[in-house]
Amino acid sequence: MKAVVTSDYGSVEVLNIENVEKPTIGKNEILICIYACSVNPIDWKIRKGLLKAVSGKKPPKILGGDFSGIVDEVGAEIKDFKIGDEVWGHINALKGGAYAEYIKVNTNNICLKPKNFDFIQAASIPLAGLTAYQSLVNYGKIKENSTVLINGCTGGVGSIAVQVAKFLGCHVTGVCSAKNAEYASSIGVDVIIDYKQENILNSNKTFDSIYDFVGNMTFSESKKIIKEQGAFITLNPSFPLLIFGGIMNCFRSKKYKGMLVKSSSDNLNKLKDMVESEALKATVESVFPLEKVQQAHTHSESGRVVGKVVMSLK
Ligand SMILES: NC(=O)c1ccc[n+]([C@@H]2O[C@H](COP(=O)([O-])OP(=O)(O)OC[C@H]3O[C@@H](n4cnc5c(N)ncnc54)[C@H](OP(=O)(O)O)[C@@H]3O)[C@@H](O)[C@H]2O)c1
Repeated sequence: MKAVVTSDYGSVEVLNIENVEKPTIGKNEILICIYACSVNPIDWKIRKGLLKAVSGKKPPKILGGDFSGIVDEVGAEIKDFKIGDEVWGHINALKGGAYAEYIKVNTNNICLKPKNFDFIQAASIPLAGLTAYQSLVNYGKIKENSTVLINGCTGGVGSIAVQVAKFLGCHVTGVCSAKNAEYASSIGVDVIIDYKQENILNSNKTFDSIYDFVGNMTFSESKKIIKEQGAFITLNPSFPLLIFGGIMNCFRSKKYKGMLVKSSSDNLNKLKDMVESEALKATVESVFPLEKVQQAHTHSESGRVVGKVVMSLK
């Protein structure tokens, strides 16, 4: 099968299309024929060698953490899916495998694709959508009328987080640049802060939870705008935060949490329901054929993407 394989750590030149062996499945596995996959910042961070301590297998490696496609084969013990089902899914991006024509997964990695999405739209949601959903619901513990601050409200994760938070009845303040203000408003942000004009830390507002989807805020500086028992959630946690954060939070009135996205077919189904009820829309900023993976990575690395970059295989 055709796949993008890294030849080394480094610049986009290490990304090349190769012919590799098609995966074979076990009795509890499912083979998916991939129609589209998305580019996430973690992919180019792995490519560059910035995550060597956690990204496991060295090059040569197939990158990619989410996809949409059609079930091609099912293991003998699979009951919930059949050949021909249209699905979307997430796999641990550190392990990778989605920049390819086929991937083997288990039932917790996938669910049926929303009926009103094509494969390109569907590939844009799983990793960023699960990150947004789990950040807000599992880590931020949002409720109806919670006040949330989303730093980076127009990126892959942020744009979905805004829509999930609005769906769940929250009041959303979003930080973005002026050029994206109209888009932020169109997806539901209630109060827009232009980071070039205003530092949110100087605000006299306080929030039940703050989501730093950019990585340029600190918990210590942000404490003054977090309510008592509120939380600050980062997507770029340090090892000490991951290991000791839970214990430390027992002694803090304002909580500091590092989140790492996990596969969950249950959460994917919740996102599917949101899409089918038109509460969640996809923002696909650009689509590249798999062969143009180098350009797709360069574009994602710019840090200016509004919504998602998707690669098509069909
Ligand atoms: N821990 C996990 O499990 C996990 C999961 C997914 C993602 N992540 C991490 O989360 C981060 C965000 O991912 P993503 O896919 O959302 O990234 P992305 O789509 O590349 O983010 C790009 C967006 O960030 C905005 N932005 C850039 N600088 C900003 C600033 N100073 N203030 C506010 N907005 C700013 C840009 O808008 P402007 O052009 O207007 O600046 C653009 O819309 C990445 O570091 C990624 O690796 C972690």
